[in-house]
Amino acid sequence: MTISRFETVVIAGATGNIGYPITEAFLNDGSYKIKILRKKPENKNERSELLASKGVEIVYVDYNQKDDLVKALKGTDVIVSAVSAFSSKKTSGDFYNIQLPLLEAAKEVGVKRFIPSEFGGEYSPGHSHTFVDSKLQIREELEKSGMEYTYISTGAFQEFIEWLGFDVKNKIATFYVDGNSKVHSTSLADVGKYTVESLRLPEARNATVRVAGSIETFNEILQMFEKATDSKWKVIEDREVRHRFRNQIEPIPSFMDDVKAFACENGTLSKLDNDKFSFTPRPLAEYFNAVDKKYEIKIWG
Ligand SMILES: NC(=O)c1ccc[n+]([C@@H]2O[C@H](COP(=O)([O-])OP(=O)(O)OC[C@H]3O[C@@H](n4cnc5c(N)ncnc54)[C@H](OP(=O)(O)O)[C@@H]3O)[C@@H](O)[C@H]2O)c1
Repeated sequence: MTISRFETVVIAGATGNIGYPITEAFLNDGSYKIKILRKKPENKNERSELLASKGVEIVYVDYNQKDDLVKALKGTDVIVSAVSAFSSKKTSGDFYNIQLPLLEAAKEVGVKRFIPSEFGGEYSPGHSHTFVDSKLQIREELEKSGMEYTYISTGAFQEFIEWLGFDVKNKIATFYVDGNSKVHSTSLADVGKYTVESLRLPEARNATVRVAGSIETFNEILQMFEKATDSKWKVIEDREVRHRFRNQIEPIPSFMDDVKAFACENGTLSKLDNDKFSFTPRPLAEYFNAVDKKYEIKIWG
């Protein structure tokens, strides 16, 4: 690996599900000055306190105030945005407006590379989902801005695999797609490592990086859950969620159920760039075997 030409990294959303492991990966790498942005007003947070104890600088900002952001971003080489537009009803699914002032401020202060909040499937225009459309919209702004960019596509987070229709408490699997459909998945720690290494990878400049720990069918994942819980699960086939959601047909699914179904329908990446990186990622089966399920995650929806 070459030496990074970047020195200062700002992570927005660093206390979150993926922002935290990304920040940890930067700390483990040890080559960067790390600052994190937190949403005003100031509030107590265990993760940010832990990061601060490891030397991370914490700056509170109003994400809607460009001036505030400009002040916070001065001297930044790289921004990794791991903010979420699913955290509140107000911003539900709108990754464009939630990141636009950050992008504009970054451009103003001369940030060299911007990694937007993606970390999911590989989407192209016409996929027609509000949250994907807004992620694609911010890409357009970014590409016009002149800053370098990297889009990191990782498939589903392994620690979130339950969220794709696996109800562990009641031992019910809801299949939003055929059980033989596949889904790529990556561990949170590996997403962090890929993000850090992408800064040293020439091919990641102005490109999409597609990486994953493994690929399985939904039937195979069900078997893993059955083995882990030592029980036979009930399977519900429900492939009409998106149709019912779009046409408001009873029982009307929630917005999040629609997002889930969309994620299942678009679970695979077209190719993988794993071989460009220095490490072998953890496959999903090992997540099920891991005694230490390190990250406590917030499953939304
Ligand atoms: N592939 C997958 O399976 C998968 C799963 C989940 C998420 N994702 C993707 O990963 C990205 C991050 O999602 P996440 O679940 O990690 O996020 P999250 O944990 O819900 O939130 C991340 C952080 O963003 C900050 N934040 C919350 N609301 C904000 C707002 N309105 N403006 C700015 N910052 C705000 C908060 O930090 P502070 O309070 O410290 O500011 C929060 O801890 C998204 O692009 C999401 O689509 C992918």
